[in-house]
Amino acid sequence: MSTGATLRLQLDDPAATAALAARLAVAQPRGGAVVHLHGDLGAGKSTLARAWLRHLGVEGTVRSPTYTLVERYPLPGGNEALHLDLYRIGDPGELEFLGLDESAGALWLVEWPQRGAGALPAADLAVYLAIAGDGRSVRIDACSPTGRDWLGRLGDAHL
Ligand SMILES: Nc1ncnc2c1ncn2[C@@H]1O[C@H](COP(=O)(O)OP(=O)(O)O)[C@@H](O)[C@H]1O
Ligand SMILES: [Mg+2]
Repeated sequence: MSTGATLRLQLDDPAATAALAARLAVAQPRGGAVVHLHGDLGAGKSTLARAWLRHLGVEGTVRSPTYTLVERYPLPGGNEALHLDLYRIGDPGELEFLGLDESAGALWLVEWPQRGAGALPAADLAVYLAIAGDGRSVRIDACSPTGRDWLGRLGDAHL
């Protein structure tokens, strides 16, 4: 579902990707949210996710969930962040064995969400990253009322 709300940006370098992650984190809903990160290999999905987790206070190594499919991070304040990378998933049904329930308050950052179709919670935001010259382009679609409000707040989240 798209609510019609969309944001498009040019990200000239990895620092711009990280700055976008911080803006998204500042404006994110308190009650948890689901973000689908689309884009080819090298488009910057992990860069965005890592910077986002850092901004939320995750310290130490942010591991790549390439083989584990999911890495979970407790957040300061008691909530949780889930970072998924479904590139190597064989079947969306594998997600059911990970014991991920759609717990309230959790932030889901999901790379390759199309590979988990049918077994993932619905997105609030869908982020589409693409290589554009030396930088990246990004389109963010709001996919729920929560996502639409979130995009609306983004403009206010100056850093
Ligand atoms: N806005 C950007 N401009 C240029 N390079 C970027 C940008 N964002 C990320 N990168 C670089 O792209 C490379 C791949 O990023 P990564 O986040 O691993 O991609 P993905 O997870 O989509 O495969 C990294 O070297 C990263 O520093
Ligand atoms: Mg990645």
